[in-house]
Amino acid sequence: LSPRPLAGRRLLITAGPTFEAIDPVRGITNLSSGKMGFAIARAAREAGAEVTLVAGPVHLDTPRGVRRIDVRSALQMLEAVMPLADEHDVFVATAAVADWRPASLSAHKIKKDGKKIAPTFELSENPDILAAVSARSRERGAPYCVGFAAESEQLERHAREKLLRKRVPLIIGNLGPATFGRDDNSLLLVDAQGATPLPVDGQATDKLTLARLLMADLADRLASRPLS
Ligand code: C5P
Repeated sequence: LSPRPLAGRRLLITAGPTFEAIDPVRGITNLSSGKMGFAIARAAREAGAEVTLVAGPVHLDTPRGVRRIDVRSALQMLEAVMPLADEHDVFVATAAVADWRPASLSAHKIKKDGKKIAPTFELSENPDILAAVSARSRERGAPYCVGFAAESEQLERHAREKLLRKRVPLIIGNLGPATFGRDDNSLLLVDAQGATPLPVDGQATDKLTLARLLMADLADRLASRPLS
C-alpha cells in the first residue's frame, strides 16, 4: 500500500462557515467549525497531494504544506474557487455555505429607532458553489467533485438527492449526531452504486482519522483517472 496514494493529485477544498454581512458589525453565519475540511486538507497533504484550502471565518491553524485562501462570504468563496477549479483534479466541498445573504448591505451600523420596531431583512439566495464547479467539471472532465451532507434525519435519502441535484459522483453524509464543532463523527459514502459507512464498522472516530480513511478511499476512486 502506497503511503502517498494522492501523489500527483491537486485537491481544492472549501471549509468552514460563510459570514453574510448585514451591516459593518453584524451578519448571518452558522456553527460550522471548519474542522472536517481542515482535517481533510491535512490528510490529503500527508497522502502526497498538492492542496489548496479556501476557508471561511474559522479559528484553525493552516495544516503544514497547505496553501490557504481566506474568504468571508459565499460570493467571495465562489469568486476564489471558480478560477482555481480548473487547476485542480479534485474538489471537496466541506464548507457550510450560508444559503442566503442579506439582499443589501447597510454601510452604517443599523440603529434602534426608539419605537420598538424591529427591522426586517430581505434575503437573496447564495450561489451553489459545488453545483457550479460540478457544471464546469462536466465540460472539462475535471475536477472530480465531492460534496457533504449534514442532515438530522434520513441521511441516505437526502445525500442521494444531493448527488442527483448537484450531479456529483460522491456525497459524504455525516452520520454522527450534531457534528458541527465536534471532534468525533462517522461518515456514509453515497455514490451511484450504493452507500458505504466509513469506518466500515460505523464507530464514531476523530475527524483526522476519518479524513485519512477518506483520502485512502478517494485515491481508490481516482485510480482509473490518469494523472494530469
Ligand atoms: O446545498 P446543500 O447544503 O444541501 O449541500 C451541501 C453540499 O453542497 C456541501 O458539500 C456544501 O459544501 C455544498 N454547498 C456549496 N454551496 C452552497 C451550498 C452548499 O458548495 N451554496
